[in-house]
Amino acid sequence: MLKLAKTPVVAVLAVFLTLSAITGHTTENKVAVASAHPLASHAALEMIGRGGNAFDAAVAIGAVLAVVEPAGSGLGGGGFWLLHRASDGFETMLDGRETAPLAAHQDMYLDAEGRVIPGLSIDGPLSAGIPGVPAALVHLAEHYGKLPLSASLQPAIRYARDGFIIGERYRRLLSFRLPQIQSSPAAAAIFLDNGRVPDPGWTLRQPDLAKTLQRLADFGAAGFYAGETAEKLLKSVKAAGGIWSQQDLDNYRVVEREPVKGTYRGIRITGAALPSAGGIGLVQALNILTEYDLTAIDAVTRKHLVTEALRRVYHDRALYLGDPDFIDVPVSRLINPDYAAGLRSTIRKDRSLPSVMLSGDIPEQAGGDNTTHFSVMDGEGNRVAATLSVNYPFGSGFVAEGTGVILNDEMDDFDSRPGAVNVYGLIGGLPNAIAPGKRMLSSMSPTFLEDDERIAVLGTPGGSRIISMVLLGILDFADGNGPDSWVSVPRYHHQYIPDAVQYEPGGLSSEELQGLEKLGHRLRETSYRYGDMQALQWHKREGRFSAASDPRGEGLAVIRND
Ligand code: DON
Repeated sequence: MLKLAKTPVVAVLAVFLTLSAITGHTTENKVAVASAHPLASHAALEMIGRGGNAFDAAVAIGAVLAVVEPAGSGLGGGGFWLLHRASDGFETMLDGRETAPLAAHQDMYLDAEGRVIPGLSIDGPLSAGIPGVPAALVHLAEHYGKLPLSASLQPAIRYARDGFIIGERYRRLLSFRLPQIQSSPAAAAIFLDNGRVPDPGWTLRQPDLAKTLQRLADFGAAGFYAGETAEKLLKSVKAAGGIWSQQDLDNYRVVEREPVKGTYRGIRITGAALPSAGGIGLVQALNILTEYDLTAIDAVTRKHLVTEALRRVYHDRALYLGDPDFIDVPVSRLINPDYAAGLRSTIRKDRSLPSVMLSGDIPEQAGGDNTTHFSVMDGEGNRVAATLSVNYPFGSGFVAEGTGVILNDEMDDFDSRPGAVNVYGLIGGLPNAIAPGKRMLSSMSPTFLEDDERIAVLGTPGGSRIISMVLLGILDFADGNGPDSWVSVPRYHHQYIPDAVQYEPGGLSSEELQGLEKLGHRLRETSYRYGDMQALQWHKREGRFSAASDPRGEGLAVIRND
């Protein structure tokens, strides 16, 4: 039976009928998918119906999201795909993170006095790293999928060419980035309606993007990094002050990296490897927390302890983490339980530790909300957790003429200057300094969990808050709850600097707020609920799926259990 979560009845019926038509709906095609857009989840079912596996579905989902959620991810961006292959249990992370152009240098966003020039690493083509998504889609299809790219890119090409009706989220994020979109003529021509944010019900058509996707389908990576697409990208980027070269595009490679592994109270965690801080951060936090019985403990103490663990995790992130191909990172020490025991010994149950006691000044923080995550698993047990990004909403706001591709502004995830904060308020230093060809540090945390009873696939967008959101999801899994609960759990966050517990409206009860304040925590409510978690679970004994899409977003979870 096909089940859809978080959709009104009429829509469920409509989607069901379309899916039955597209997929033939055979009984042997068990699958679970959760993504930030119904059309992307829909595309996953289409691939399974055509005889594809979870990896083909992942190609289709990623490509459709590039079309229908242009604010979050796209061919001009990057991401991490965590894979589990059922036939031999092989697990790997596809690192499709952007690289700094060869002409990039450590001081490229600083003025003559060494101050960060506002906006330079966020708006326009100078803020864009060399995209990894096109190469990763090709790699995923060629090495793990069963279907040709021409099949798995088909839904995306269709939605780009024929169009789709925009949602409220599109309008909200477009309004947020309106000045940048307006300053790129190619972006304005695609995303705006006569120079304005379109009304609800408007159809977004992207014929140039359809052609770019078609070239990718026809020629593989060469269809993007060489030939017509490459020429158009370079021409526009150079004309608008960017520094990309053909050599940058030629050099781009997807890297397969060994995921970070850990355990927490009988749960095996498989997390993202560097250049994401996600896996290391989650394992480190869980190693710190494992000695406390968080399920039995009172709510204030639980939240205090989680906060203190996060403070130490984000401190180490700033101090040690960066691209492992460029710097030595003491990964095995950071994820060692004995190292965590040392950090735990500095935690008091009766008071918070100000971040200045760990080190450094405390600069102020900025906000941000975007990116995308999807989770998919097929009946054979192949699974993918993928978090993809163009960074800020609509990335750099810049579209290269004739390509339909919105360029990322992921360069802002580097540390432009030691001690400077990025758009998410994250502080860092030399390990994450800009260098030619280097990959910027990320928080994206696609994650697998497994215990004797269950397998989980989860992740979320949310900038610096990604790690804390996934951590709260894991702790909820450990409490015995399912995907509906993980994606809904009220959220709070600490990232070492700024020294405050950030929480979404309703994220902490008034009792918890009072209790945390008494322990010495500064508290800061965010103006909006954040995150867009997409999660699924396989129940080993019953042989069935459950799945859920974050109620804060516009996504859709679908399961088929027979
Ligand atoms: O890689 C990172 O950590 C960021 N570029 C992700 C950005 C993000 O999730 C934006 N959403 N709030």
